[in-house]
Amino acid sequence: MLIDVPVIVITGASRGIGRATALRCAKEGVQTVLVATDADRLQKLRSEIVELGAPEPMIAAFDVADSSSIADLFAAIFKQFGRVDGLVNNAGIMRDGLLGMIKDDDIDRVLAVNVKGTIVFMQYAARLMGRRREGSIVNLASIVGTHGGSPGLTVYGASKAAVIGATRSAAKELAPKNIRVNAIAPGFIETDMTAAMKKESYDMRVAQIGIGRMGTPEEIAEVAWFLLSPASSYVSGQIIGVDGQMVM
Ligand code: NAI
Repeated sequence: MLIDVPVIVITGASRGIGRATALRCAKEGVQTVLVATDADRLQKLRSEIVELGAPEPMIAAFDVADSSSIADLFAAIFKQFGRVDGLVNNAGIMRDGLLGMIKDDDIDRVLAVNVKGTIVFMQYAARLMGRRREGSIVNLASIVGTHGGSPGLTVYGASKAAVIGATRSAAKELAPKNIRVNAIAPGFIETDMTAAMKKESYDMRVAQIGIGRMGTPEEIAEVAWFLLSPASSYVSGQIIGVDGQMVM
């Protein structure tokens, strides 16, 4: 069956930037497919989206580092909707650690979630988008990846720089199929991820923001929607900073 509204897949949709992006997309009446590890939160979000009058989201609770779950998800999407128009690779984790103290497990896990998950999702989405010769992929990078780092974020910074490299190569590869690939590089955004930071590093970051405050998940979601929508039909291969002039 081919449904007649766009289908947009959002990873890490249970909270923070992913949740705001899911709600922003739902406001436009598109069919969302929501992925995260927390099944309870996904179910609550599904009810909220149905109350908004948008199509009932498909939800899937699994670890984005697990390629076989990703394959199963895209098979289910194809069976149920017959199309994928947008993908937001938002699921991501940060594990900080100074050099000398970084555990192998943390390196493996951050790269598996932030990099491998992003690449495998792009791979499956691009196959379905290619069938209709249309699509938009949005990856969540970070200013830690674009403008270099921060003490303790060697692993996370490497993962986000990798997301940028993957975005640019995928954009070149997929442009002939009319599939656009861009990344957003958020600065310092109010979510559970940043709330978990140590106070000194939190205060130091807020002091670096030109606009003088943290960003909201909704401010990232607006840019994600722009990149997903036809309003950005001629934008591809770009890494768009959304950081309240934290870096230039
Ligand atoms: P968050 O920690 O509040 O939410 C992360 C989401 O990803 C949750 O829904 C969680 O369930 C999901 N997730 C985590 N690991 C997963 C896994 N293995 N499999 C499936 N889902 C998983 O994070 P936040 O702040 O909303 O960040 C979203 C993205 O934006 C991340 O990629 C992050 O690196 C990036 N980012 C965030 C910034 C910030 O200041 N909050 C700044 C720059 C980038």
